[in-house]
Amino acid sequence: MIELHEKFEVDRPRAEVFAYLRDFRSAAEWDHTTRSARKATPGPVDVGSRFDLVCKLPLGTIDIEYTVTHLEPGRALTLQGQSRLFAVTDVIHFSDTATGCHIDYRAHFAFHGPLAALEPAMRNGMARMGRKAVAGMRRALQDDFPPPAAASDTRRADAWLVPGVALFSSAGYRRGRKRWNPVSAWMGDKHALITGASSGLGYATALELARTGAALTLVIRDEAKAQPLVAALRRETGNEHIYVELADLRLMREVDALVQRLTLRDRPIDILVNNAGALFTQWGQTDEGLEQSFALLLLAPYRLTRGLKPLLRQAPAPRVINVVSGGMYSQRLEVGRLQAGSDGYSGAETYARAKRALMVLTEQWAADWAREGIVVNAMHPGWADTPGVAKSLPGFRKLTRRILRSPDQGADTIVWLARATEAGKVSGQLFLDREPRPTHLLARTQESPGERAALREYMEAVF
Ligand SMILES: NC(=O)c1ccc[n+]([C@@H]2O[C@H](COP(=O)([O-])OP(=O)(O)OC[C@H]3O[C@@H](n4cnc5c(N)ncnc54)[C@H](OP(=O)(O)O)[C@@H]3O)[C@@H](O)[C@H]2O)c1
Repeated sequence: MIELHEKFEVDRPRAEVFAYLRDFRSAAEWDHTTRSARKATPGPVDVGSRFDLVCKLPLGTIDIEYTVTHLEPGRALTLQGQSRLFAVTDVIHFSDTATGCHIDYRAHFAFHGPLAALEPAMRNGMARMGRKAVAGMRRALQDDFPPPAAASDTRRADAWLVPGVALFSSAGYRRGRKRWNPVSAWMGDKHALITGASSGLGYATALELARTGAALTLVIRDEAKAQPLVAALRRETGNEHIYVELADLRLMREVDALVQRLTLRDRPIDILVNNAGALFTQWGQTDEGLEQSFALLLLAPYRLTRGLKPLLRQAPAPRVINVVSGGMYSQRLEVGRLQAGSDGYSGAETYARAKRALMVLTEQWAADWAREGIVVNAMHPGWADTPGVAKSLPGFRKLTRRILRSPDQGADTIVWLARATEAGKVSGQLFLDREPRPTHLLARTQESPGERAALREYMEAVF
């Protein structure tokens, strides 16, 4: 038997530290030997929950199946791991200090069969490994990372266009995740509003934020989906603070009514995710006389965000996240063409133009609201296999299916922008895979200051 024993303190409340470590998927963030960690059983983490880890060995990898065998909220956590080479028991105790939390971490390794004879020779190496893992845990919990910046190879890939666009695929996500810092920020006191949470990226965002304990208001349009949506999220996460608001966001009367209801509820909004969207293959106008892509993709987030600004201002560090699209790289801002006519209509172009304009609004809001402390960023998800893509772009999906991201990979940067402490340190930027990215890849799409001002005037006129 090899025993590792490490202790340390962090200046964070015990509940926060426990919440982060209880979800053992976090091991992939703080333990350098863990390549991947996934929760293998449904429902909130409790005794009996299982996590499947893939860990590095000097030669190759090893699968370890961990089971939570003891869980005392805020006080103690025990996990037992089984692999083909060894059994391991991790025991973590949490206690209060004057300024935060003391963590006592023990791991017992028992190698199987003849390997047990090698334990004395392995003891020092294992101890070094344990110290490094616990140092990673401490770093994760200290949560003191610099503001995000694009890596030089990412900037090069974007400058060469094709390598940059190739990173929209799941390969971009896999490449990105090797470089990411841990995210241990506490969300138990946050309230997030997510539009379009009934499927795809919105649902993946809701699920991940529900796991962190944030209170959620989910804006969806189909009443029949409300109860099953809330039930599924509660069942999976145990989070009881999930509410639904109904609104068809193509209709400004429904957007305004939503703003009114939320204003009456008077609950500060820490995070607003403008995610709802669709690519309309057929031209259409709403009964309010607005072209539907413009209404849903641009005017709705514009009106919602401005309408909810008083509730955002009530939160201590509010964040707005606008979900745009890599498709916008193909379009320049053309204020006169934001509402497409039916003649020669192209759904993809109209969609991309609206997303381009939403990106410009992101930059304008970030500058306008900086003094009020409202952080506004945009992200694009790359190419993710969602019901929206299946419906609007079946040909594209067929061609690219094998390289598409999963919805949770596509939503990862939304969740990170909502949660990560360092993501609150920058505003007015576009992100993909947690890295700031250029808003233009082609010189011909660059708009002039006059065109940006025209967008502001146009939106103010229709608001
Ligand atoms: N998937 C990608 O590769 C990709 C790439 C670039 C950008 N995006 C953007 O990511 C966002 C999410 O898209 P997704 O791929 O996750 O698509 P999705 O699976 O179709 O999800 C879109 C969500 O928006 C909702 N929505 C659509 N029209 C609405 C309306 N009129 N009122 C209220 N809600 C409405 C949908 O509700 P219903 O369930 O009722 O339809 C659904 O919840 C969109 O803004 C999209 O433009 C996605």
